[in-house]
Amino acid sequence: MNTPKQSPAPTTALTQRKAAVDISPEEFRRLAHRLVDQISDQLAAVPAGPVKPDESHEVVRQAIGGAAPLPEDGAAAEGLLAAATQSLFEHSLFNSHPRFFGYITSGPALIGVLGDFLASAVNPNVGAYKLAPLATEIEAQTVRWLAELIGYPADCGGLLVSGGNMANFVGFLAARRVKAAWNVRQTGMAGNAGGRLRLYASNETHTWVQKATDLFGLGTDSIRWIATDSRQRMDLTALRGQIDSDIADGDQPFLVIGAAGSVSTGAVDPLPEIAAVCREYDLWFHVDGAYGAVAARAPDVPPDLAGLAEADSVAVDPHKWLYAPIEAGCTLVRDPKHLLDTFSYHPLYYHFDKEAINYFDLGPQNSRGFRALKVWLALQQAGRAGYMRMIADDISLAKHFYDLLENYEELEALTQGLSITTFRYIPSDLRDSAEPETTHEYLNQLNQELLDRIEKSGEAFFSNAVIEGKFALRLCVVNFRTTLSDIEALPEIVTRLGLEVDRTLRPR
Ligand SMILES: Cc1ncc(COP(=O)(O)O)c(C=O)c1O
Repeated sequence: MNTPKQSPAPTTALTQRKAAVDISPEEFRRLAHRLVDQISDQLAAVPAGPVKPDESHEVVRQAIGGAAPLPEDGAAAEGLLAAATQSLFEHSLFNSHPRFFGYITSGPALIGVLGDFLASAVNPNVGAYKLAPLATEIEAQTVRWLAELIGYPADCGGLLVSGGNMANFVGFLAARRVKAAWNVRQTGMAGNAGGRLRLYASNETHTWVQKATDLFGLGTDSIRWIATDSRQRMDLTALRGQIDSDIADGDQPFLVIGAAGSVSTGAVDPLPEIAAVCREYDLWFHVDGAYGAVAARAPDVPPDLAGLAEADSVAVDPHKWLYAPIEAGCTLVRDPKHLLDTFSYHPLYYHFDKEAINYFDLGPQNSRGFRALKVWLALQQAGRAGYMRMIADDISLAKHFYDLLENYEELEALTQGLSITTFRYIPSDLRDSAEPETTHEYLNQLNQELLDRIEKSGEAFFSNAVIEGKFALRLCVVNFRTTLSDIEALPEIVTRLGLEVDRTLRPR
């Protein structure tokens, strides 16, 4: 009989292991309660404080010890959590502040904050069913509910991704896979023996489209930027003309992108007509609904929004207008098979049930976090009706602001679409300027400075748009904490700070 080899006796340190990152269940309970108490106090104080503290990069860097080296020895979790909470609440921009109106970034629904906590406690890897059975089912149900919410066929395919860019990338890749006349997955762009692949998007389209063509080998020159009308909507005559001329030149049109709420002004492209063009020319119809798709069934929205139901794929972004904590985007694809066709590989080292949903097979990620939980919980907390009410209220507030601007001689209303209003400050003496060109330049400079000045003040936060060459301030309400009084306070803030900036730039 062979004598088994004697392995060295385990040291006590390994039999009673005390790992440097471990926390006992009792200690975890204590720390977590304490953290929740601190967060609750800090969140309650947010509305009374500045939207963003006015401090230099250096001050922010020093709040965490700047260039301090990696600590050699560990420290107690309690002190670390308390210090991190304090620093984060002292040195952050609060998109949950009722006067935050920048970009398209919502404050988080608190059920989503708790959902993220729960998700990371269970920590399922939602790449494969076997690794995350319930989480996979929750994601599949979330995808179906999102489709129902926006009026898209509920038997579509789909998955959660990090945000709007990724959601659009997934639609883009499915379009390229399905419409390219060669096996693009195998031979890449080099396999194209025909003319150049062409895609069509209005010149108001978000910059994800440049990243997509760049990252996925088509190059930004493959984009045909289609002109927009006076309401920033894609011009259909220009679209058809460009497609016809590309076909005549031997190129291969494959994709048209329609905006369901453009990033700058909330414009909604004529989606039903674009769908008809795509059918006629056999092109993939992708809708970028990162901002506006969830408003498709809300009251008082452009009827064209409902045309997203005809798309081959739609990007939806719960971390925008569904108020999910960042990150949460979602792609819906009409024919679920197209996701598998675009992304699936079956390596030998994975032994997964091929009949089950394995999300690593349906998108670019392998290991995947449980993003769906926060969205799933919030959809149930608010229900469809609750979401429609919140979205309708955000739209009403943005429209109310647009109407308010009428009462102020120095404020010029520029555009209004969904929950976005753009406007600018014009000193009264420049309203009817005799030197329009010089005034135009000056107003652009003034409004850029004003944007920064408002940010520094902490009284509100806007971002910007450029409307027919005019630098505009841009208010976007995707903020369920904003009330009428927040909106009504804004004209006074903008005119007061506008006057200050004007006096600095044009000392009299
Ligand atoms: C219309 C539109 N598409 C795509 C994006 C990109 O979304 P994300 O920042 O979540 O990647 C945005 C962001 O504002 C957007 O407004």
